[in-house]
Amino acid sequence: MDMTTTLIDHTFRKDVQRCFTEQTYAIPARWLYDRRGSELFEEITDLPEYYPTRTETNLLKANKAAFAKSIGPGRAIIEFGSGSSTKTPHLLNAIDPAAYVPIDISGDFLEHSASLLQKEFPELPILPVEADFMKRVELPEAVAALPKLGFFPGSTIGNMIARTSVDLLRFMRETLGEGAQLLIGFDRIKDPATLVAAYDDSAGVTAQFSLNLLHRINRELDGNIAVDQFRHVAVWSDIYARIEIYLEAQADVTLPIGGEQYHLAAGQKIHIENSHKYGIRDARLMLRAGGWTPVQEWSDEKDYFTLMLVEAHPYKHAP
Ligand code: TRP
Repeated sequence: MDMTTTLIDHTFRKDVQRCFTEQTYAIPARWLYDRRGSELFEEITDLPEYYPTRTETNLLKANKAAFAKSIGPGRAIIEFGSGSSTKTPHLLNAIDPAAYVPIDISGDFLEHSASLLQKEFPELPILPVEADFMKRVELPEAVAALPKLGFFPGSTIGNMIARTSVDLLRFMRETLGEGAQLLIGFDRIKDPATLVAAYDDSAGVTAQFSLNLLHRINRELDGNIAVDQFRHVAVWSDIYARIEIYLEAQADVTLPIGGEQYHLAAGQKIHIENSHKYGIRDARLMLRAGGWTPVQEWSDEKDYFTLMLVEAHPYKHAP
């Protein structure tokens, strides 16, 4: 086992222990994405009920001419949390950039996706950076002098609470510099039934994705949790304007994990994810709080999803 694996294992264990010993009944969402979890998430993006991926991809395809006009050629595209980079080709085709810098925390995945993309775009300099984008990121020297476009699709911003989102937007501004643009996806507030279905599909893939967290604990932390005693729950919270995902104990259960025994009463829920949704003005206000000025917006005809183009203008003095 190498150093990285040991550290990851250690934080995972700490996060899981805290959930039960400090009774936070919450486990950070990042632990959903092991190999199996990432595969299941890919499956989610193809589900009929899960509209965000499809809608955003269609927006990217349908507005190429507008992107070319408002963004233009010759920029370095910096993608935050690039993952499999599946949406990127549409943008690369639209704006003819000078370089592409995918940033991801998972180095293996990053190299693999970058080499696949390089085959499709042999002329484009692709410069992957393995980093945690929740902080300021040091960009490669080769893009220092280029105008920048940040790319943050998938409404990934929605997986953070507001104050973390604003911190992230500020870090992005520091990373990209004044004058940079950012193209960012927001999942919109819509009727709760549509939202809940997107996070609790009829084929049960999302439930498998959530419950995989318990399987992962069994696999990696020497656990023996009876996974079938838990149920995946997705609820709409109107006050927070978000979908909340929980694992709910169906009976009083004992969870043996790495030599410890934890107990949950029937009905106890473990909070594993939030997916915030936005009104147009909510999104604009949050972007401005993070130092970004809205310049253009693209939405689908149902207003399910919006891509926003924003710019890092120089800060002005009050008012
Ligand atoms: N970023 C995705 C979203 O919020 C992640 C996601 C989709 C998710 N389905 C999920 C997270 C179910 C936890 C459980 O839309």
